[in-house]
Amino acid sequence: MTADGASAGPLPLAGKAMVVTGGSRGIGAAIVRLAVAQGAEVVFNYHRSAKAAQALRDEMRAAYPDRQCMALRAQVSDAADMENFAEAAIECLGTPDALVNNAGVTRDSAFARTPRTDWDEVIETNLGSMYNATHPLIVPLTKRKRGAVINIASTTGVHGAPGQVSYAASKAGIIGFTKALAKEVAGAGVTVNAVAPGLIDTDMLAGLSDDKLELLTAMIPARRLGTADEVAHMVCFLASDHARYITGQVIEVAGGFAL
Ligand SMILES: NC(=O)c1ccc[n+]([C@@H]2O[C@H](COP(=O)([O-])OP(=O)(O)OC[C@H]3O[C@@H](n4cnc5c(N)ncnc54)[C@H](OP(=O)(O)O)[C@@H]3O)[C@@H](O)[C@H]2O)c1
Repeated sequence: MTADGASAGPLPLAGKAMVVTGGSRGIGAAIVRLAVAQGAEVVFNYHRSAKAAQALRDEMRAAYPDRQCMALRAQVSDAADMENFAEAAIECLGTPDALVNNAGVTRDSAFARTPRTDWDEVIETNLGSMYNATHPLIVPLTKRKRGAVINIASTTGVHGAPGQVSYAASKAGIIGFTKALAKEVAGAGVTVNAVAPGLIDTDMLAGLSDDKLELLTAMIPARRLGTADEVAHMVCFLASDHARYITGQVIEVAGGFAL
């Protein structure tokens, strides 16, 4: 086994073109790193973290000068922005082999105290982005008769969680989107799956107090947070040719967490 998780032999994503949303930080950055290490050419977008995105792009280009890695600013909740992003990605890589819908936000609060603006931001960013990023690419993917769409949901969208009603609604929406689209495009050779992480050690958990984090960790059978890299490995597997017969699934990467 090599550092990029590949067995000896050809890299699992060699020659694959991948588009990743929200690649500047956290799980998205881990997906970009692993995908490029496994042989893929990657275009990713970011919104606020321009410096982190450019640093990641530069890191990938230095480590793998033979592979394309491009970072573009585009806001996933803006349909026009994402149309332009898809066009730029196709111009750079051709029709992608995989689209990873990863960008997401939380605005946690008890539902009774959730302002409509927070609700809208979470739904538009997490669920609206499924339309905005996928719609411009689905016809090219189905015409080419091969491809993978991988959507990052959450265990919260499967099981619910207090204080996360808007987030749970958006992530449950992603799961419905995944299952329905999977059935629509399976005949055209395109797979659509969701990966549902549990508690993963990224900036997204930064707002949680140490006490709350300890309480939540105690509820995870594996007794620890997951890493962004552990999620990235599942995503890259689903993007590879080894996963061609897996579609419409929700795969939890959560150390057994199920609340
Ligand atoms: N961490 C967890 O415990 C956990 C658990 C379950 C599911 N997830 C899901 O995993 C995904 C990644 O989360 P993470 O933990 O890596 O979070 P993170 O560290 O906060 O990173 C979020 C990423 O999404 C991007 N993003 C956010 N809003 C955007 C927008 N409007 N347009 C474009 N990009 C946007 C950010 O880019 P900029 O910084 O450039 O704006 C950043 O790259 C999300 O869908 C999240 O819901 C996370």
